[in-house]
This record gives sequence, C-alpha cells and structure tokens, in this order.
Amino acid sequence: MQSSSASTDTFVIRSPETADEWEAYYTLRYRILRQPWGAPLGSERDEREHLAVHRIALDAGTGHIVGCGRIHQRDDGSAQIRFMAVADDYRGRGIGSLLLESLEQWAKQQSITHIVLYARTTAVRFYLQHGYRVLERAHTLYNAIEHVLMEKRLV
Ligand SMILES: CC(C)(COP(=O)(O)OP(=O)(O)OC[C@H]1O[C@@H](n2cnc3c(N)ncnc32)[C@H](O)[C@@H]1OP(=O)(O)O)[C@@H](O)C(=O)NCCC(=O)NCCS
Repeated sequence: MQSSSASTDTFVIRSPETADEWEAYYTLRYRILRQPWGAPLGSERDEREHLAVHRIALDAGTGHIVGCGRIHQRDDGSAQIRFMAVADDYRGRGIGSLLLESLEQWAKQQSITHIVLYARTTAVRFYLQHGYRVLERAHTLYNAIEHVLMEKRLV
C-alpha cells in the first residue's frame, strides 16, 4: 500500500505503520463513528480494508492518533472515501482538511476521475468547503444518522 506524508506544525498525516497504530486507528474509528450508537465492535470495518488506502493524523507532540480517513478505488474509475473522523477535542483545527487532501492527492496520482462519499448531514458543510457537491439524499444509519451522497470531480 502506498504511503505519503504531509505535516503542519503539530500534525503528521501518513498511513498507519505499526500493529499498535493499526489498532489505535480502528479504535478511533469505532469510538467516533460507531460506539455512540451502540454498534458492535467490528462495525467500524468493511470488506475492503485490505484494498483501501488509509491515513491517520498524529499529534506530533503526544504521538497519539487524533484523526483518520480511508479511500478505495471502485470499478467505474471513481474512488470512495469512508470513515473520516477527528477526535472531539481536535476538531476545527484543520486536521480533517489535511486528511481529505491527502486522500485526494492519492486519488489524483491514480488518475481517478471523481470521488464519492456518503456524508453525515452534520459534515456536509465540511465537504462543501472542499469542493464536493450534494447529489442526493441517501440512507439513515442506525435510524438516526442521515446521509447524503456527495461527489467531487478530479478531472
Ligand atoms: C467532519 C470532520 C472529519 C471534520 O474534521 P475537522 O478536523 O473538524 O475539520 P477541519 O478543521 O479541517 O475543518 C473544519 C471546517 O469544517 C466545518 N465543520 C467540521 N465539522 C463540522 C460539523 N460537524 N458541522 C458543521 N461544520 C463542520 C467547520 O465549521 C470548519 O469550517 P470553518 O473553518 O469555516 O469554521 C470532523 O468534524 C468529525 O470527525 N466529525 C464527526 C465524525 C463525522 O461526521 N465524520 C464524517 C463522516 S461522513
């Protein structure tokens, strides 16, 4: 799997490397995206983990993983981003943007034509700010979390 890195003064964006980092990465996903709704352990993963490209955000000061995101290529020349999450007390500091840019950079290197994602309605503004547009309303997860399908053209 390819790896690339980008950093600000405080945060480093790269792929998980060690077994501990992979575990902390999936734990963060679970804690933010699944646990609050009582979803079982394992629901934070899907069948494409081994095909996907993964990014974590590390707090350079503490070494802790404070954000994550994932992208995988689809058969139609597009790619899908999933499992974007930033720890509560780290939000609004540009970490989500760095993660998204890193995933998009990978997609551009693969000549992927467009990226799709299912955004929680609470995160739509974040993606709009990054050039995504809303295509349609989508599923409601756990009878609670409404999603919309969004897209960004790369070429
Ligand atoms: C969405 C998320 C990944 C963004 O990460 P982040 O590190 O806070 O994002 P950034 O700091 O790079 O960008 C923040 C910008 O997006 C906006 N934003 C981020 N989350 C938002 C939210 N939940 N509702 C409204 N706006 C939001 C902020 O207002 C900010 O815009 P501003 O700079 O104009 O004020 C993060 O809020 C998160 O983990 N949310 C909970 C999990 C989630 O919804 N994941 C996405 C699943 S589709």
